Amino acid sequence: MKSPLAVAVVFGTRPDAVKMAPVVAALTRDSRFRCVTIATAQHREMLDEVLDLFGIKAEYDLGVMTEGQSLTDVTTRVLERIGTVLADVRPALVLVHGDTTTSTAAALAAYYQKISVGHVEAGLRTSTIYEPFPEEVNRRLTGVLATYHFAPTPLAKQNLLREGKDAKSIIVTGNTVIDAFTAIHKNVTEDDVVPVNTPRVIFAEAHRRENLGEPLEAICRAFKRIVGARPDVSLVWPVHPNPPIVEVVRRNLEGVPRVHLMQPLGYRQLVATIARATLVATDSGGLQEEAPTLGKPVLVLRRVTERPEGLEAGTLRLAGITEEEITAHLAELLDNPAAYQKMAKAVNPYGDGHASRRIADGLWAYLRGGAMPDEFVPPGTTENVATDNVETDLQVRSPKRG
Ligand code: UD1
Repeated sequence: MKSPLAVAVVFGTRPDAVKMAPVVAALTRDSRFRCVTIATAQHREMLDEVLDLFGIKAEYDLGVMTEGQSLTDVTTRVLERIGTVLADVRPALVLVHGDTTTSTAAALAAYYQKISVGHVEAGLRTSTIYEPFPEEVNRRLTGVLATYHFAPTPLAKQNLLREGKDAKSIIVTGNTVIDAFTAIHKNVTEDDVVPVNTPRVIFAEAHRRENLGEPLEAICRAFKRIVGARPDVSLVWPVHPNPPIVEVVRRNLEGVPRVHLMQPLGYRQLVATIARATLVATDSGGLQEEAPTLGKPVLVLRRVTERPEGLEAGTLRLAGITEEEITAHLAELLDNPAAYQKMAKAVNPYGDGHASRRIADGLWAYLRGGAMPDEFVPPGTTENVATDNVETDLQVRSPKRG
């Protein structure tokens, strides 16, 4: 029997850890592979919570996070530190995720050592290199460095083909976040929900660099207006720990009735609280994929999104970054039941819970030969993909209580 294939899986922020957790699980339980986990720890607290939840122990922890870190700090620290680990491990392939600095710096380090790179969540694109910043350029660079591209949707595959990638190097897998989200959702309880005593709840989250400054101020003012005018609506906002974000959000919203600002939630609490929410308003990428799984309309607090499948399916709406636009979109969804229902009933186009299995089978086929996996085909437009109907391959542990 051939020796197991050594695959290094790299993650460092909260979203890439959530999205890589099912891939780590799939590779770990598959005897064809030896899965080597490398955490850059670009994030510390937010990463550790996710690793603990999914029962992942990082074999290598590069501990790169520093307070007030710049993009250059993260890039250079990851590049240097992961180079040493890769030279030691010599995996057959390095798997990176998405568009974080962790992903791009790790892919570059692998390239320098002529180790193949597989890119999970490949092919997302906007038409401008500054939105989102610096994620748009990060994912394009990682696409150049990667040999294998695991595209979440057919549209992402089209983007890669347009850039001249070989069709044989791309597999449409669905997004692994659906594997993670559905597994956790099956496991949450009432205790995980952030307690709020109004019938309707807006779940808010905004942390993008390009929204720092006036856009974030405008987002805060819009929320204040909307909640202030509706006594049956509250706002739950787990605030990203980036200091400039905390400052703006606190200054605008602290002490406002029915506005609940809090530390970042554990992933279990996040899933449970979204399940309880009426709608989600965010500039985050992952939430655009996660919330529609539970039929929650998502207002995207940006001018462009790299996830146009959701706009087309009707699960997302671009709400822009001005106070007037955001207020109008929120008001429409809260005050017009037909508009709300139309979004809530739209089909989530992002995955079926089997993305990680496809990635494992695809890696094996690429590196050792054999059949390629079936590709993910987004569901038709007639049925909603409720979580209860999604069979995910990922198992998670029961909550720790007490
Ligand atoms: C990064 C990703 C972004 C992702 C986001 C999720 C890049 C370029 N961007 O952005 O795509 O959506 O993570 O959070 O990689 N901090 C803490 N504690 C933590 C995490 C962050 O204090 O647990 C602080 C850091 O010290 C830093 C700031 O938050 O000062 C920003 O973190 P950083 O990783 O540089 O970028 P994000 O904005 O989080």
